[in-house]
Amino acid sequence: MIILIGGEKGGTGKTTLATNLAAMRALAGRDVLLIDTDPQGSSNYWVQSRDEERITPRVACVQKFGKGLPAEVKDLANRYQDIIIDAGGRDSVELRSALVVTEKAYIPIQPSQFDIWTLNQMDELVEAAKGFNPELRAKVIISRSSTNPSVHESDETGKLLADFLNLELANVTIRDRIAYRKAAKDGLAVTELKPKDPKASEEMEILYNEVFGNE
Ligand SMILES: Nc1ncnc2c1ncn2[C@@H]1O[C@H](COP(=O)(O)OP(=O)(O)O)[C@@H](O)[C@H]1O
Ligand SMILES: [Mg+2]
Repeated sequence: MIILIGGEKGGTGKTTLATNLAAMRALAGRDVLLIDTDPQGSSNYWVQSRDEERITPRVACVQKFGKGLPAEVKDLANRYQDIIIDAGGRDSVELRSALVVTEKAYIPIQPSQFDIWTLNQMDELVEAAKGFNPELRAKVIISRSSTNPSVHESDETGKLLADFLNLELANVTIRDRIAYRKAAKDGLAVTELKPKDPKASEEMEILYNEVFGNE
């Protein structure tokens, strides 16, 4: 399966979700490739930390930029069972071209920075990509949400999403938890942290199941 974690805003958790899903997929015994299309190279640094710490299973990662991305991804899809694309935080050629080859696109947004214009633009990008890629499904993930149980940001966002024809709300909210930052530092998924943060692990498991189902 080819999936994309993308969006136009920086700091929403794209790299966090892409790297967690990649490690979890590798732990499930799949041959997975992480493609980092962000010039900041955060996914690539995460893989380097993982290698330096000699964590197994390894996660393969390549950096790719430019318009040639769809052809390269299609070629790589013959060699890997799963491809996870981390597409940088702007309306880039990489984001547009990745949408054309991906089956599922996930767009993390931070509720505190909720910006209707960003999603409007994403809705249009997804619509345009569907012309070439009719099977594309795009879901918004509320990410880095408050851990305060009285805050119901996902309900409010769900209502706003009703206006966008090409965007659905994912069935999980990712909360702002220290565990994500700790795991990132050492090239780990939150599910690999010791001691474990059960809540972070649980929400990543739900996301993993939503993305990969029983594939
Ligand atoms: N759910 C979360 N809880 C806590 N910190 C997070 C979470 N998601 C991301 N972060 C932190 O926020 C910063 C930006 O996240 P990152 O995944 O790099 O975003 P992006 O790739 O969208 O720019 C990083 O320092 C990361 O560790
Ligand atoms: Mg990033």
